[in-house]
Amino acid sequence: MNKQQLETTAQAMVAKGKGILAMDESTGTCAKRFAKQGIEFSFESRRAYRSLLVTTPKLSDHIAGAILFDETIRQQVTGSDTPIPEYMAAHGIIPGIKVDMGAKPLAGHPGEVVTEGLDGLRERLAEYREMGARFAKWRAVITIGDELPTPACIQANAHALARYAALVQDAGLVPIVEPEVLMDGRHTIEQCYVVTAVTLHTVFAELFQQGVHLEGIVLKPSMVIAGKECPQRAAPEQVAAETVRCLRNHVPAAVPGIAFLSGGQTDAEATRHLSLINQQGHLPWALTFSYGRALQQEALAAWDGREANIPTAQAALYRRAGLVGAAATGNYSPEMEER
Ligand code: 13P
Repeated sequence: MNKQQLETTAQAMVAKGKGILAMDESTGTCAKRFAKQGIEFSFESRRAYRSLLVTTPKLSDHIAGAILFDETIRQQVTGSDTPIPEYMAAHGIIPGIKVDMGAKPLAGHPGEVVTEGLDGLRERLAEYREMGARFAKWRAVITIGDELPTPACIQANAHALARYAALVQDAGLVPIVEPEVLMDGRHTIEQCYVVTAVTLHTVFAELFQQGVHLEGIVLKPSMVIAGKECPQRAAPEQVAAETVRCLRNHVPAAVPGIAFLSGGQTDAEATRHLSLINQQGHLPWALTFSYGRALQQEALAAWDGREANIPTAQAALYRRAGLVGAAATGNYSPEMEER
């Protein structure tokens, strides 16, 4: 393992005022998002959409890296022979790749899932590195509900995350370690805090056990926030304060960066929360974004599957990336949405 190289990549992924574009939706998830907009769904339309995203002019002003899906890393930019990862690297965006095979029902634990994909991962990583990937992503999913999550679910997911992270570093890539505590449900922000704390604690114990080099990872957590159906909404200031309190208690200072997922928050909420998080005083890590929906929603709607709309869609992506980039240094205010 070349530790120095991993550290340099990890730091570049969370460079000041920049974050990561998650555009690694599986084919199934992509189908749902396209269907919602009434956009035709095909190999070519997925390629056109992903090409639109990565060719957004000056995207690297605010985006340090982008996470691709297996299909996308093998595609060429629409209308050219240039492979998508090659185009990204030439335009200052580090290519990354989702390597997990999705969350599957956890045996014996109704309502819970465990992320699969360790089998054959070493070989897949070697191939992805050859194609230009410099970091990887694995998403573990923790559900809050009656009597959930169980220790078995947290433990199984944390162990898989650590096995994945060790393999990824061995292959010379930076692992994004993503334990997502879902926003689905009626749980309070206090319940989310406890579950996030136990999850992070367990994940870092497993990373330690597997010998993962912490200076060469990026953590991608969810924020500490009330469930979507919880009647008591927490104020944005409380979300920021509780998220930072949880991270301070459970994430080692050696980790170079924390890049949040948006997890179903609106674009404006996810942007506001990140800015407030960055106003919580001196912290040992870069605190930035690795948003999927909160970066793409406006662009996807503006595109609507039509070639003529590409410039408008790219303008929407660039604008949102700029707002979230400002949030990554604590310099966003909601009035900026109106401009
Ligand atoms: P969202 O920001 O839409 O939650 O997606 C981020 C992601 O990559 C989930 O794995």
